[in-house]
Amino acid sequence: MPTSSWERGRTKIEKVMTHYWKNYYEANADKFADSLMKQVDRTINGAEEEQSEIDLTVESLRQVLNLDSTDQVADLCCGNGLLTRAVACGVATMIGVDFSEKLIACANRFNAASNVRYVVGDVSKLDGSFFSSVTKVFMESSVQHLESDELSRLLRTLGSTPNIEAVFIGGVPDADRLSVYYDDDRKMAFYRQREAEGRPHIGTWWSQPQLQKVVEDSGLRVRFLPQDARLTSAYYRYDCLIERPSR
Ligand SMILES: C[S@@+](CC[C@H](N)C(=O)[O-])C[C@H]1O[C@@H](n2cnc3c(N)ncnc32)[C@H](O)[C@@H]1O
Repeated sequence: MPTSSWERGRTKIEKVMTHYWKNYYEANADKFADSLMKQVDRTINGAEEEQSEIDLTVESLRQVLNLDSTDQVADLCCGNGLLTRAVACGVATMIGVDFSEKLIACANRFNAASNVRYVVGDVSKLDGSFFSSVTKVFMESSVQHLESDELSRLLRTLGSTPNIEAVFIGGVPDADRLSVYYDDDRKMAFYRQREAEGRPHIGTWWSQPQLQKVVEDSGLRVRFLPQDARLTSAYYRYDCLIERPSR
C-alpha cells in the first residue's frame, strides 16, 4: 500500500500510463486487423517492417540467451505472438504474456503452437509463481511502456526466482540518442508536444546509466549490447542481458 503522497502520486502515474498504453494497443488490434506487424508497431515510416527484422531480432535473443531445447521461456509483452512463435520452435515451452486481451486473442488465433501458451496479464504485477518453471525470459521492444517502479518490481520478482538464469531486454530506446531519432526541430517539437499532452509517442527513453541503476537496485547486473547493425532500429535502440551477480 502506498503510504506517502509521493508514493500515491507514483501509483497514480503508473495507473494512468498503463491505461493509456493498454487502450493504445487494444485500438491498434482493431485498427490493423489485417496486419499483425502494424498491430504491434512493427512499422517503418508507417509501412510494415521486413520479415528480416523479426528474423534478426529472434536470432539475437536466441544467441544472447543461449537458448536450447531444454529451456522454458517467458516472452513478456508478447503482443500478438509474432516473436513468441518464432522463438518457440527451438525451446521446450514458451509462455507469452500481454495485457491486451485483443492482442492475446490474435496470438491464440494466428501464432499458436503446441508448446506455446498465451495469457493476459500486466507484466509488472506478475508474482514469482508465474515463473516457477521458467528458465529464461525476454521482453522485446516493450520496456519503454513501463514506469521505473514497474520495471523495478518486475526485476525484483525475476531476481527472487532462482530457476531464472537470464533475462534479455531488447530494443530499449536510448535517451542519449533521443535527438538522433527526433533529428530536426519539427520532430523534436512533436515529441515534446506528445509528452506535454501525456500521450507519449514511443514511451520512456532509458539512458544506460538510468537502466543500470534500476537493475542494480533490484540486486541484478546488466550488460549492454548494441543491436545488430542490420536492424533499422540499431541507430537509436540497444539491447541488454540481465543476470544475477556472480558470487
Ligand atoms: C511494441 S509492442 C511489442 C510486442 C512484441 N514484443 C514484439 O516485439 O512484437 C509492445 C507490447 O507491450 C504490451 N505491454 C505494454 N505494457 C505492458 C504491461 N505492463 N504488461 C503487459 N503487456 C504490456 C503491449 O500490449 C504491446 O503488445
